[in-house]
Amino acid sequence: MDSKIKKVLADAKSKISSVDNPKDLESLTIELFGKNGQITQLTKGIATLNLEEKPLFGKKINEIKKDIEKLIEDKHQSLKRQKPQKQIDITEPGQKQQIGHLHLVSQAIEEIVAIFAKLGFSPKSYPEIDWDWYAFESLNFPKDHPARDDWETFFIKAPEDPKYGQQVLTPHTSNGQVREMEEVKNPPIRMLNIARCYRRQIDVSHTPMFHQFEGLLVDKNVGIPDLKGTLDYFSSNFYGQNRVTRLRPHHFRFTEPSFEVDINCGVCLGRGCRICKSGWLELGGAGMVHPNVLKAGGIDPKIYNGFAFGWGIERVIAQRTDLPDIRLLYQNDIRFLEQF
Ligand code: FA5
Repeated sequence: MDSKIKKVLADAKSKISSVDNPKDLESLTIELFGKNGQITQLTKGIATLNLEEKPLFGKKINEIKKDIEKLIEDKHQSLKRQKPQKQIDITEPGQKQQIGHLHLVSQAIEEIVAIFAKLGFSPKSYPEIDWDWYAFESLNFPKDHPARDDWETFFIKAPEDPKYGQQVLTPHTSNGQVREMEEVKNPPIRMLNIARCYRRQIDVSHTPMFHQFEGLLVDKNVGIPDLKGTLDYFSSNFYGQNRVTRLRPHHFRFTEPSFEVDINCGVCLGRGCRICKSGWLELGGAGMVHPNVLKAGGIDPKIYNGFAFGWGIERVIAQRTDLPDIRLLYQNDIRFLEQF
């Protein structure tokens, strides 16, 4: 009888401790104290004992009854204190993951590539650290020519090459012109070189690192109207209908004639307003490829000619979104970037 009592107590203790909800605790109470419960069976067993044993075991059974009742009550209280488990509604729509988006500059690059692809221009990339030869000399800049100063170039501290000169961080994508001619060898050429460029400049419209896209077309009998048509095609597709370009005479060493390219203002469409003042906004440079550049690229200028243009991507974004300061593009302020 003694061992039976101990076993019932041990069983009850372990079952009570593993119960984790009120419903199971209720079933366990019935299992112990119900009509056929283990405690009830123990109590009934007293009748089979002799007279001396009856009071002893009766007392012991009463004691474990009390112990078990106390354990059940404690468990009951602790389950009451537990927070009810949150019901999961599996039919409820899930929380949307925050998926970021491409940076404004990457978005613009994708758009620009897609627009020029329709005109047959293939995207290319040329070195960001290049020789002076490709960045300047092959582009008709003699050594020490003052026109180089406009490119405010970063030079790499490294030994010079006897033919190619010093290494530079490319200050413009025009370094791709002669490289492309060398690669393609036989025109036609329709290249769109998009790359990072570097200059020692910083203010609202200049960053030390920026992007340019450079178009180069070399073929037979290419004329300025082809250049103008290409630029207008880009402007109306990128900025919207009724946006056209204007060519203003300029000077670049590597194009002849050379132009600054303006686009008509999106507000007044060229009539002149408070925003643009003159009706036009400057976008970048362009011109007909200089014969010396064709020669440097191994192409006969008596047979072939072409046009080239190079614009800053941050500036075209600024003009499309009325951005007052292009440095905002590189401050990584999520409140700014999330707007696009
Ligand atoms: C050039 O770099 C010429 N290579 C463009 C060219 C190509 C002319 C082919 C003719 C034929 P420019 O220095 O003006 O030109 O720069 C062109 C554009 O790059 C500028 O109009 C501007 O949009 C952008 N740009 C230049 N410097 C910076 C800078 N520091 N930060 C942001 N954008 C810049």
